[in-house]
Amino acid sequence: MCGIIGYIGKKQVAPILIAGLRRLEYRGYDSAGICVLENNNLETIKKRGHIAELEQELNSREVLGTIGIAHTRWATHGEPNETNAHPHYDCTGNISIIHNGIIENFQSLKKLLESEGHKFVSETDSEVLAHLIEKFYSSDIESAVIKALKQVEGTFGLAVLCKNEEKIIVARRGSPLIIGVGEDEVFVASDASAILEYTKKVIYLKDNELAILSRDNYEIKNLDGVVSDFEIQEIKWSLDEIEKVGFKHFMLKEIFEQPRSIENTLRGRINGGKIKLSLNFNPKSINRIIITACGTSWHSALIGKYLIEKIAKIPVEVDYASEFRYRDPIIRSDDLFVVISQSGETADTLAALRQATVCETLGIVNVVGSTISREVKSGIYLHAGPEIGVASTKAFTCQVTAIILLALYIRQELGMDIDQRLVEEFIAIPEKIKIILDKSEKIKELSYNFTDAKNFLYLGRGVNFPVALEGALKLKEISYIHAEGYPAAEMKHGPIALIDENMFVVFIVNKGEIFEKVVSNMQEVKARGGKIICITDCPEEEMIKKLSSFIITVPETHEELSPLINVIPLQLMSYFVADAKGINVDKPRNLAKSVTVE
Ligand code: AGP
Ligand code: GLU
Repeated sequence: MCGIIGYIGKKQVAPILIAGLRRLEYRGYDSAGICVLENNNLETIKKRGHIAELEQELNSREVLGTIGIAHTRWATHGEPNETNAHPHYDCTGNISIIHNGIIENFQSLKKLLESEGHKFVSETDSEVLAHLIEKFYSSDIESAVIKALKQVEGTFGLAVLCKNEEKIIVARRGSPLIIGVGEDEVFVASDASAILEYTKKVIYLKDNELAILSRDNYEIKNLDGVVSDFEIQEIKWSLDEIEKVGFKHFMLKEIFEQPRSIENTLRGRINGGKIKLSLNFNPKSINRIIITACGTSWHSALIGKYLIEKIAKIPVEVDYASEFRYRDPIIRSDDLFVVISQSGETADTLAALRQATVCETLGIVNVVGSTISREVKSGIYLHAGPEIGVASTKAFTCQVTAIILLALYIRQELGMDIDQRLVEEFIAIPEKIKIILDKSEKIKELSYNFTDAKNFLYLGRGVNFPVALEGALKLKEISYIHAEGYPAAEMKHGPIALIDENMFVVFIVNKGEIFEKVVSNMQEVKARGGKIICITDCPEEEMIKKLSSFIITVPETHEELSPLINVIPLQLMSYFVADAKGINVDKPRNLAKSVTVE
C-alpha cells in the first residue's frame, strides 16, 4: 500500500519522481523520500508527512541527476518518521533501496547481519534488504539482489540503486510493480497512475520476477536470473480519469462516475437478453460458492450471498478473508471460490485465494494486471477505471453489478429462464442513479444536520442489510463519526438500548413484502426519541412521513437491484458530512487505499 516510482533516462529525474509520488500518495502517505544517482554519487532526501513536505525540501536545494527512485510510505514496522522513511542505505552508503510489503523474517535476518557487523539505523523491516544486498555485493548489483532475495520471506515491491552502476534493479513478490516503457527512458511504479503522463506502454511484473532497467533498455528475469518472457500492454486509462476533473475530491468524482462505471462493467456482457461472461468453468459442476473479501468488498460479497442464492439457486458462504485463511476452512473440489477486491492486492484476500488450490477460482477485480487478477482461474474485471479515493464507492457498485451478472449467468447456464424485465431494469440502473445524483445538492443540505453527530445506526433488511453495513462504513471511515450497520429486525435484540434523542438512525425502506416490518422497526426507534433518516422509494406513504425526520427519495427498482440505488445517497451523505467537517476525504487518517500487509 505504499507507492514506488523510479526513472532512468535523459531527463532530470527529481521532478518526475515528485510528480509520480503525488499520484501515488493515495496508496499510503505517512512519509516519503527520494534517492538520485549522479556521477557515482547517491543523494537521498526524505521527510515525515505528505509529499508536500518532501517537495518543499527539494525546492530549497537542487538535486541533479537522470536516475532515481522514490517512495511514499504506509508504515508497518517502525513508526512514521524521517529515519524510518524510505529509501534506506546499507552500511557503505553505496546501495539504496525502497520497499513495499513486509519482510516476515526480518528479525532473524537483522540479528544475523548485526552479528556480522552491520549497523542498522531504522526500526523498519525494509532496511534488512539494503544490508543483505551489501552482504552479497562485490561488483554486480543484479546478482547481489538475486542472492539477497533468496533469503527473504514475505512480500516485496523493491527498487535498488548502486552508486557504481547506472541502472535500477527492481523485483516483486506480493506487492505490485509495473515497468513503463518510454523513448530512451524506462520507468518503474506501483501502478499506472504514476507514469501515465509519460507512457501508456507497460509491463506488469509477475511475482518472483526481477527487472534490470538501464537508460535505453530493460530486461526481465526470474529470481534465478533466467530471462523471462513478457508482454507490453497498453494502458486504457486516460490521464483525466486519474485527475479529479473539477471535483473537489476524487471520492466525489468517483461517486458521480458510477452511472458510467456501471455501464462499463455491463459493457458487452448482456447481448439480446443473454448474459455473456468468459469463465473457465461450467456452472453445472459447481455445488457451492465461497466468497471472501475485506471491507467494502466484503459487503458486496454479502450482497452476493443474497442474490446468487435467490437467482442462481446455489448455496453461498461468505467470509472475511482475514478470518477465512486462519480457520482451517473446508474447501471442496466442486466449490467455486470467489474473491472480490478492487485493488487486487489486498494481502488477506490474496492469502485466502492461495488456499483454494482444489477448486475453481474466480476474481472480481478492478485493477487490471493486479496480483489477484493474475492468480485466479477466471475473472470478471470491473472496468470501473482507477479508484483513487480511499473510501470505495464506484468499485462497490461495480462489484455488485458484476455479482448480479454472475448470478444471472449461472442461472442461464443451468438452464433456468432469465427474467427479461429484470435485465432491462438492470441496463436502466445507470439512468436511475443519475436521478439521485441530480439531487445531490439536497442531500448536501440535509447532511449539514449531522456534522455534530456522535453516533449513527444504519438499518436495512434482506439484500439491503449489507447496504446498511456499507453506509455505516462510509460514514465512519471518512467523517470519524461512530456508525454501526444492523439488520433492522435485530435492533430490538440489544442496540435499541442505544436509542435516544441523540441517536440518528438511517433506515433503508423499499416497497415490498417486508415494508410493514421495517415500518414497525421505525416505530420502535421513534417511540424512543431516535431521529430517523429514511432512504425510500415510497416517500408518499403516511407512516414514512410521520416517522421520518429526514427523507431521501430514490427511484423504484427491482429488489435484486435496489442495493445499486440505495447506496448512492449513503455515499453522498457520508461525503458531505465529512467535507463539512473539514476532513480530507480522499486521505482519511490511518487508512490506505490498498492494504497489502496482513
Ligand atoms: C472501503 O471504503 C475501504 N477503503 C476498505 O474497506 C476496502 O474496501 C478494503 O480494504 C478492501 O480493499 P480491496 O477491495 O482493494 O481488496
Ligand atoms: N514494511 C515497510 C515499512 O514499514 C514498507 C511499508 C510500505 O509498504 O510502505 O517501512
